Amino acid sequence: MSVRHAPSRDTHAEPAARLAVARPRLPAAEAILPYLQRIDGARWYSNFGPLLTELEQRLADRFPVGTQIVTVANGTQALTLALMAMDLPAGGHVAMPAWTFVATAHAVLQAGLTPWFLDVDPETWALDPVAVAARLPSSGRPVVAAIPVSPFGRPLDLAAWRAFRAETGVPVLVDAAAGFDTTSDARLPTVVSLHATKVAGAGEGGFLATDDHALAERMRALSTFGFKGTRDSMFAATNAKLSEYTAAVGLASQDGWPADRLRFLRAAQMLRIGLTGLPQVQFQAGWGSDWITSVCSVTLPQGSADSVEASLAAQGVDTRRWWGLGCHASPAFADLPREPLDITDRLAGCVIGLPFSIDLTRAEISRIAAALRQALTEL
Ligand SMILES: Cc1ncc(COP(=O)(O)O)c(C=O)c1O
Repeated sequence: MSVRHAPSRDTHAEPAARLAVARPRLPAAEAILPYLQRIDGARWYSNFGPLLTELEQRLADRFPVGTQIVTVANGTQALTLALMAMDLPAGGHVAMPAWTFVATAHAVLQAGLTPWFLDVDPETWALDPVAVAARLPSSGRPVVAAIPVSPFGRPLDLAAWRAFRAETGVPVLVDAAAGFDTTSDARLPTVVSLHATKVAGAGEGGFLATDDHALAERMRALSTFGFKGTRDSMFAATNAKLSEYTAAVGLASQDGWPADRLRFLRAAQMLRIGLTGLPQVQFQAGWGSDWITSVCSVTLPQGSADSVEASLAAQGVDTRRWWGLGCHASPAFADLPREPLDITDRLAGCVIGLPFSIDLTRAEISRIAAALRQALTEL
């Protein structure tokens, strides 16, 4: 007679659910509902309706009086259309960091320009305007613009970039896709993303903030078929408008922002405390105290990202290299001009995104800390 053994407790134990690297959270349905009812009442669904106008005003209120806000379908379109509105010589080089998301390079190409990949500063992970100015003569072609990128939302030295623009004459467009929290200066045209993965998301969306009224007007026309007050198309353009439905989510998101910001700060502080025993894991300077963003990209010991990621994955903790191995490493950009990218390559080998969300729990933080401790002992 065969004996059936009861399964051991271990075989029965439910495996812990994987810990996701991101858990975006947009406004709940009830927070959006009053705005949806306004749409029903107005029967105005797109084309710069009352909700979109209100959203742009709410965004403008975060900047000095007179700042122009131009919303469009997403941050990538905002970068593309802002570059087109800047009316730059076709094909010219645009100085940009290799350490960025691929969207920055796609936008440059879509605008008929050529990304020129430069290395970043090892501390800030951003382009250094003084170093870029020194490199300008080594570009084979005229450098027609520069796009400094805020690394995962970390504020840039905007005064130094204004000085760069004044001294070199090279126009600057700031890619602060993840920088909603601290972007409040529009003296350089600045793009922010409202994607669902960002701190004050609308699902999809993005905006330009600028004190240059003519630039804003051109970008607006580019986002709506090249129309400038008539039904005549004045130049080649596209349709990148935001609908009233997206504006509804955006407005509900703005309503929740003050409280959401505190929740993000609290989650970040808890994570920082949870990892205090792991000095090999370094946060970006000011992350979760001076500024907040929706992702947590940390620096690990040199060259350890692959093995730490593999160990965390085996322990059910998901991670992501939010910027891959650097934008320049994507096949789409393989043939584009570049300067030596040693620091970018170094960052690609030691920076990973840890699980982070507005409602990260203490239990999840303990799990991240334990998994990291294990991963680091395996190095
Ligand atoms: C640096 C950077 N630029 C541009 C974008 C593009 O923004 P969107 O996803 O809204 O198109 C992103 C998106 O994450 C980004 O990280």
